[in-house]
Amino acid sequence: MIATAVNSPPRRSGTPSRTGLDLTKELRELATERKAIILAHNYQVPELQEVADFVGDSLGLSYQAAKTDADVILFCGVHFMAETAKIINPTKRVILPDLEAGCSLSESCPPEKLAEFLKKQADKNYYVIAYINCSAGVKAQADVICTSGNADKIVRAAPGDRNILFVPDQNLGAWVMERTGRKMDLWQGTCYVHVEFTARSINRIRDEYPDAPVVAHPECTYAVRMLADEVCSTEKMITFCKNSPAREIIIVTEAGMLHRLKKEIPDKTFIPGPTDNCFCGECRFMKMNTLEKAYNALLNMEPEITLPESIRKRAELPILRMLELSR
Ligand code: 13P
Ligand code: SF4
Repeated sequence: MIATAVNSPPRRSGTPSRTGLDLTKELRELATERKAIILAHNYQVPELQEVADFVGDSLGLSYQAAKTDADVILFCGVHFMAETAKIINPTKRVILPDLEAGCSLSESCPPEKLAEFLKKQADKNYYVIAYINCSAGVKAQADVICTSGNADKIVRAAPGDRNILFVPDQNLGAWVMERTGRKMDLWQGTCYVHVEFTARSINRIRDEYPDAPVVAHPECTYAVRMLADEVCSTEKMITFCKNSPAREIIIVTEAGMLHRLKKEIPDKTFIPGPTDNCFCGECRFMKMNTLEKAYNALLNMEPEITLPESIRKRAELPILRMLELSR
C-alpha cells in the first residue's frame, strides 16, 4: 500500500552537525522550492511545530489538506493522517518523515477484520462511523469519518433508522454515546497512550493542584473522563484554556500538546496529567518524526504515501461527507 518514489535526486542531506536553526531555515527554503506545505499535528516535537505552516488537530489538518494549492504536502504526524491527506489529494505528493509512524488505534482495526465482522453481521445493516484514526482500508468500508473535534455532530447526523457501528476507539465512541444519547456498537480499540491515565493518577494531581481544572482527551477511559472538567479534541483544548479564568490547568493528553499551549497562552501554567507508572505520556509514533527526518524526506521526496486508486476513491467519499457535515 505504501511505496517509495524518488523522482528528484538528493542534492544535500540533513547532517547532525547542522544546528536546529540552520535546519529549520533550510527546510523552509526547501519547502518554497518544492512548493510544499508543511502540516504538523499538535503532538509533534516543538521543532516541527515551529517549522510548520499549520499546526492543529486531525480535523483542522484535514481542512488544510483539502484546501491547499501546494504541489507537495509534508505531513508531520502519523501515517493515517498523511494517508487522509493523500486520499483527498490524489494528484499531490504526500510525504511523511517516518513511514513507521503508526497508531495503536489504527492497528486495532485491520481492514480484513472489519470486513469479516460486517459480513457476519450483515443482518444489522450497519451504518459505519470511523474515527479518522484508521487506515484507508477501514475508511473505504465506512459511511462517514469523524474526528474528536466533530464526532457528536457526525453521530447526530447519522440516519435514525440504522444500527451504528463505531470504529476503532471504544472510549471516544462511548463518550459520543454519552453526549448524543445515540446507541452504537463499539469496536474494542484503544489508544495505548490515553488509557495510561487513570482515576488514581488524576486524583493525585488534583490533590496537588485543587484549583486547576482538568482537561482530557476523549480517548481517555470513562473513569478519567468522569473526573475531567472538560473533554475535547486537542484544538478545542487551546480554546478552552484561553477562555478559562484558571491560572493553572491540568492537561490529560499526549505531552506534545503542552508546547502549543505554553506558546499561545504564556501567562498560564499547564500541568501534564500524570500516569500511574513512569510512562511519560508521549506517543512513540508521533515522536518518530524529527526535524532532520522531515528535511531529508522533503529533500528526497520519500517516504511517499501511495494508495491503490480503488481504495483511495472509496475512502474519499466518507471523508468528504465528514468535511461537508462539519462545516
Ligand atoms: P485530535 O484530533 O484531537 O488532535 O486527536 C488526534 C489523536 O491522535 C489523539 O490521540
Ligand atoms: Fe494513535 Fe494514540 Fe498516538 Fe494518537 S496518541 S496517534 S491515538 S497511538
